[in-house]
Amino acid sequence: MQKKEEPVVVLDNVMFHYEDGVPVLRNISLFLYEKSFHFLTGVSGAGKTSLMRLLYMGVKPSSGKLKIFGRDVSGISMEELWEFRRRIGVVFQDFNLLSHLTVLDNVALPLKVAGESIKRREHQAKEILDWVGLGNCFNLYPDSLSGGQKQRVAIARAVITRPDILLADEPTGNVDENIANKLMSLFYGMHKMGTCVIVATHYRQFVDTFHYNELTIDNGCIIVGSGRHPEKGST
Ligand SMILES: Nc1ncnc2c1ncn2[C@@H]1O[C@H](COP(=O)(O)OP(=O)(O)OP(=O)(O)O)[C@@H](O)[C@H]1O
Ligand SMILES: [Mg+2]
Repeated sequence: MQKKEEPVVVLDNVMFHYEDGVPVLRNISLFLYEKSFHFLTGVSGAGKTSLMRLLYMGVKPSSGKLKIFGRDVSGISMEELWEFRRRIGVVFQDFNLLSHLTVLDNVALPLKVAGESIKRREHQAKEILDWVGLGNCFNLYPDSLSGGQKQRVAIARAVITRPDILLADEPTGNVDENIANKLMSLFYGMHKMGTCVIVATHYRQFVDTFHYNELTIDNGCIIVGSGRHPEKGST
């Protein structure tokens, strides 16, 4: 019998606002399963990045319940928080690269945190950097890279640990079409290997081409679009 896929993310009636009290997300209830793929869409300012921040536990729901990996995150300790974050790969919209580390060290950092040997982490970081076309940038620092190169470093760093959840916020915003397609195939491969992938994008072409679940944030609410319903997983 096929193993039943587990929800890695559950939002139960979640509302979220920043300090100004203006509601950004309202009454969101959602199940996201392992090995599923979702596009997150919505106009600029709709709340895509805010939802990603919630899923990364960078901010807390203002009300409602958020469960990650089966645990209600409202009561978790700092230790658990870091443990959970190690299982989540994130590509931030503004990249969040560490400017004092080389490209290679930025990408290898999650493996260092996970306790991998220098040899292994450098080998893996080089491999993924080669793959995203940055094989000649190992020893450069982020400040000397173009926007698209920084984006690829951020993506390499996010996928290097093969996380259980991958949150990619506008991951193809700064690259040309060829690279964008290559990155999409990387995300696709991750999803096939079991990762729950969530890609926030304005790039309609991907959403229309790949026919995955589309979750659209509209007026603070989620509208489930094409593909299969997230409660039943997606292909
Ligand atoms: N740190 C913050 N403090 C207060 N308000 C914020 C903060 N970050 C975002 N907002 C507000 O929350 C709303 C949602 O913003 P968010 O960045 O989540 O949108 P988005 O869908 O990611 O937009 P984009 O497509 O432009 O990236 C916007 O009205 C924005 O002004
Ligand atoms: Mg955003």
